[in-house]
Amino acid sequence: MLFLNSIKKLIRTPNRSIFNLRKKKDFGICNPVTVGYVSPERAVPESIRKPPYYFKYMPPGNTIGEVEIKSNEQVHRLRASCRLAAKILHSCEDIVKIGSTTDDIDAFVHDKIIAANAYPSPLRYAGFPKSVCTSVNNVACHGIPDNRPLMDGDIVNVDITTYYNGYHGDCSRTFMVGNVDERGRYLVSCTEECLMESIKLCSPGIPFNAIGKFISTFVKKKKLGLIPAFIGHGIGSYFHGPPEILHYKNSVPGVMQPGMSFTIEPILTLGGPDIEIQEDGWTAISVDGARSAQFEHTVLITQTGVEVLTNVVD
Ligand code: MF3
Ligand code: CO
Ligand code: CO
Repeated sequence: MLFLNSIKKLIRTPNRSIFNLRKKKDFGICNPVTVGYVSPERAVPESIRKPPYYFKYMPPGNTIGEVEIKSNEQVHRLRASCRLAAKILHSCEDIVKIGSTTDDIDAFVHDKIIAANAYPSPLRYAGFPKSVCTSVNNVACHGIPDNRPLMDGDIVNVDITTYYNGYHGDCSRTFMVGNVDERGRYLVSCTEECLMESIKLCSPGIPFNAIGKFISTFVKKKKLGLIPAFIGHGIGSYFHGPPEILHYKNSVPGVMQPGMSFTIEPILTLGGPDIEIQEDGWTAISVDGARSAQFEHTVLITQTGVEVLTNVVD
C-alpha cells in the first residue's frame, strides 16, 4: 500500500536531477506505459459477501495502532482467503500473454474470484475502479487495468487480493511476457529473491524493521534501486492495518509475535526511487521511466517461525 506520510518527500516533479543523469544507469529496453481507457466496473452478484467499503466510500485503511494477534479461528479464515488468492494468481499464467489487455486480466481474475464465492478486494477500495492491480513496465504499483494489450518484452505485476469468509488474502507476482531483455529478467529474478529471503528472517522476537534493513543491503548488493513509497501491511478482516512494514532501513518499533500476519511487498527498480501518481489518483509511474518489479506474500508468524499463507497448495 501507499505510505501516505512520505508522499511529499518521495513524489517529486518529473525533472531529472543532474545527479540521476550523471549516474547513467542502464534501464534496458521497454515500451513505456501511459494511462489508457478504463472500462466500467464489473458486477458482483448479490450472494457474494462484500467488505464495508463496497457500500460506502472509505479512505484507505490506516496502519496506526496495535498489531492484532489472531486466534486459531481467525488464522483458519485468513489462510483460506490467502490460498484462494495464491491459486488465482498462479492461474494468471494462462491469461498473461502477448495481446491480452490488462482489462482481460481484470475480467479473468474477477470471474475466478466470484466463481470461488469471494469478493475482489481492490474493487471500490478507497474508490479503486477495478478488481485487480496490473502494473506494467514503468508503472511501479496500483496500475488500473485498461485497454493496453501486453507486448513482447513487457513485465507486468498482477496483484490479487481476495475477500473470503470475512478475511483478505493479498499476493502479487511480476510476470514476463514473451522475450524480456536481460536487465528486465535480472530485475524480476532479484525482486523475487529479495521477497523470499526477507520472509526467511521472520520469526517471533525479530523486529519488523529487520525486514527493511535486510532489503536495503540486498538491493545495494544487486546494484538495484528500491521504491520506498509502498509498504507492507498488517492484514485480516481489514485490507490494510498495523504493522507498517517498510522496505528500507528504518527504526519503526515493534517485534514479531505468533499470530501476527502481514504482507511483505518490495518494489525494486532499475532506476531511481521517485514516482508520480497520475490524475486517476492511483497509477504510480516512475519519474525516470525505469521499470520496476514487485512480489508480495501474506505471511503468518507462528510459534517457531513463519508460514507463507499465499503459497500455492492443492
Ligand atoms: N494489493 C495492494 C497491496 O498490496 C493494494 C491495492 S489497493 C487498490 O497492498 F485499491 F489499489 F486495489
Ligand atoms: Co497486494
Ligand atoms: Co499488500
